[in-house]
Amino acid sequence: MSQLDSVLAKIDADLDSSIARLFDWLRIRSISTDPAFAAECRKAAEWLAADLRTIGFETGLRETGGHPVVLGKSPKGAGKHALFYGHYDVQPVDPLDLWETPPFEPRIATLPDGRKVISARGACDDKGQVMTFVEACRAWKAVTGSLPVGLTLLIEGAEEDGSKNLPEWVAANKAELKADVALVCDTGMWDKDTPAITSSLRGMVYEEVIVTCADRDLHSGLFGGAAMNPIRVLGRVIADLHDADGRITLPGFYDGVRETPTQVLEQWKTLNLTPEEFLGQVGLKNPAGEKGRMLIEQIQSRPTCDVNGIIGGYTGEGAKTVIAGKASMKVSFRLVDDQDPERISDAFKAFVRARVPADCSVEFIKHKGSRAIALPFDMPDLVRAKSALQDEWGVPPVTIGSGGSIPIVGDFKRMLGLDSLLVGFGLDDDRVHSPNEKYDLKSFHKGTRSWARILAALAE
Ligand code: BES
Ligand code: MN
Ligand code: MN
Repeated sequence: MSQLDSVLAKIDADLDSSIARLFDWLRIRSISTDPAFAAECRKAAEWLAADLRTIGFETGLRETGGHPVVLGKSPKGAGKHALFYGHYDVQPVDPLDLWETPPFEPRIATLPDGRKVISARGACDDKGQVMTFVEACRAWKAVTGSLPVGLTLLIEGAEEDGSKNLPEWVAANKAELKADVALVCDTGMWDKDTPAITSSLRGMVYEEVIVTCADRDLHSGLFGGAAMNPIRVLGRVIADLHDADGRITLPGFYDGVRETPTQVLEQWKTLNLTPEEFLGQVGLKNPAGEKGRMLIEQIQSRPTCDVNGIIGGYTGEGAKTVIAGKASMKVSFRLVDDQDPERISDAFKAFVRARVPADCSVEFIKHKGSRAIALPFDMPDLVRAKSALQDEWGVPPVTIGSGGSIPIVGDFKRMLGLDSLLVGFGLDDDRVHSPNEKYDLKSFHKGTRSWARILAALAE
């Protein structure tokens, strides 16, 4: 039996205890965006640090100004060294009443089609995914006493809140983070049988807009017709942001957006992702993106604009006739290629200001900004990982673009000169960020086995 085979057998034998460990971590309510959960975030960081110490990583919590980073290091050897990145924070759980069981009480559930899944907030994004890597390391250590490559683990606690403090922390700790490649487990598979390596991520601009008109809420009979309504101002902005063809109308918005090369488009056509299939799973059928673009382009290679939330006026039970004094919304843009977050943020603010009447006012709160990233298809470690994934899954992995964002990956390149190998085992029906988030047991188990193989392949 080869060393790798023994490690894989160890992973199989330990599956139940691996799940039990993940469940312990999932019980901690590490919601990063809500300050009420700051202590729980620290608890999740401490839980992981303690667990990494049991595998022999020299581990500590490091302060960032926000939630702490967990940094774990294996002894630096002569061979290759990799930096693994993931996040222990999770998204808020609202709306809570749509959860079938409480979000922080993990359990194994069986789907109607027979799949066994781990159900909990963070089951996939990103605690379950991080643990696939940690469990692979644990098995290597247990079986061989060492790891195939040197490792530094950087698990942060504010990814879901835009990783605000992390770039500065990375810049200040460059020397400690030195590595040959970055590994990230925070993305998805192509489908439940086909693994994927993600070679591009969209960037993001996220702005909150607060419009104030009257200095108080008004009776809409007494003042209606005379007083401007801030929800009407926001409504105008929202309506004007897209044209009838689904294009975004912000001046200069498409600067830096490239056309997808014909060969790539041809390859995407063969994947045959239909609107019926992709949107059908969420009860829709008509793509809402730019007219004349394939669905796969709309979700991978084109930029978008979405209102993520809108607040204002009377939202309680029954009817109340009122003109709000103030209303606000949260808007995000997904960026591709060379779109510049700063310029888009400025263009957006000008666009809004032009639609706010002179006697009203607007305030902006900037939440996050990051550039899109594209990684080289031909990097040697990517080729190594591909063959390791094929060995595990029995089919060749596909290289895909992702519509999601992981802000720090671009900084790894800019600050540390590191390309990132993005391998993850999430599925489109995992309900990440939604009620009833889950992670397939198969993703967890074969994901762990995949990392065990990739670690060996990286050492070659
Ligand atoms: N893991 C996701 C990003 C992701 C999801 C990548 C699916 C590929 C496939 C990550 O945790 C996430 O949700 N990122 C946020 C970033 C934002 C808060 C700055 C996102 O994409 O909305
Ligand atoms: Mn994530
Ligand atoms: Mn997420």
